[in-house]
Amino acid sequence: MIVTIDGPAGTGKSTAARSVAQAVGFEYLDTGAMYRVVALLALEAGVEVTSAADLSQITQRASISFDSGRTLTAGRDVSALIRTLEVTEAASLVAQHPEVRDALVQEQRRFAGTRDIVCEGRDQGTVVFPHAECKFFLTADARIRTQRRLQELDAQNKPTDFDSLLQQIEERDRRDAERAIAPLRPAEDALVLDTGPLSPEDVVEQMVAIIRERQVQSGP
Ligand code: DC
Repeated sequence: MIVTIDGPAGTGKSTAARSVAQAVGFEYLDTGAMYRVVALLALEAGVEVTSAADLSQITQRASISFDSGRTLTAGRDVSALIRTLEVTEAASLVAQHPEVRDALVQEQRRFAGTRDIVCEGRDQGTVVFPHAECKFFLTADARIRTQRRLQELDAQNKPTDFDSLLQQIEERDRRDAERAIAPLRPAEDALVLDTGPLSPEDVVEQMVAIIRERQVQSGP
């Protein structure tokens, strides 16, 4: 069974996806990490994040893999490097390119294969796995998402001010929602969950209950 979890940054998507996968015993695929690796490699190579040809080449050669929660590129552990603000910003620009998206979408489908898997991203339910058996779309008010991100950055000793972070988040939302290819939106058959008023545990509990229901419906 394929479970897709899409939505903007800061909705608690990654935490939920990881916990849900663990609770139901499914694999987990963080597709945002893949865009982040391409962005990191582009920055390291000094390539403009607007150069489609260079980005395409970088994506083809990225050789991205996952191992026990770590993200690797050509065997190098880049789990921490892909979480910086610089890479976060570049990833959103890199994700605009159809060449990058097409290559990563193929990788994502190959990775999922016939496994039981939770795939998390922006376009998993709409573009990558339109026939997924169970689709979620998480939302939350931009101010709540900013507050959550601020806490994460504080915990990493990278204090940032609320207003500039809110502005960045709104700008990235706009870019993700307005891009020509695979814009961020819920699939028609996705269950939309507002995580704003819910605790992370409640989010996971609700999602797991729905997945179990679908598993029963679709039989052994
Ligand atoms: O979920 P995240 O913040 O790690 O994603 C990083 C960037 O990649 C973000 O700008 C959105 C983009 N992305 C995407 O366009 N499609 C996906 N399936 C996953 C992420």
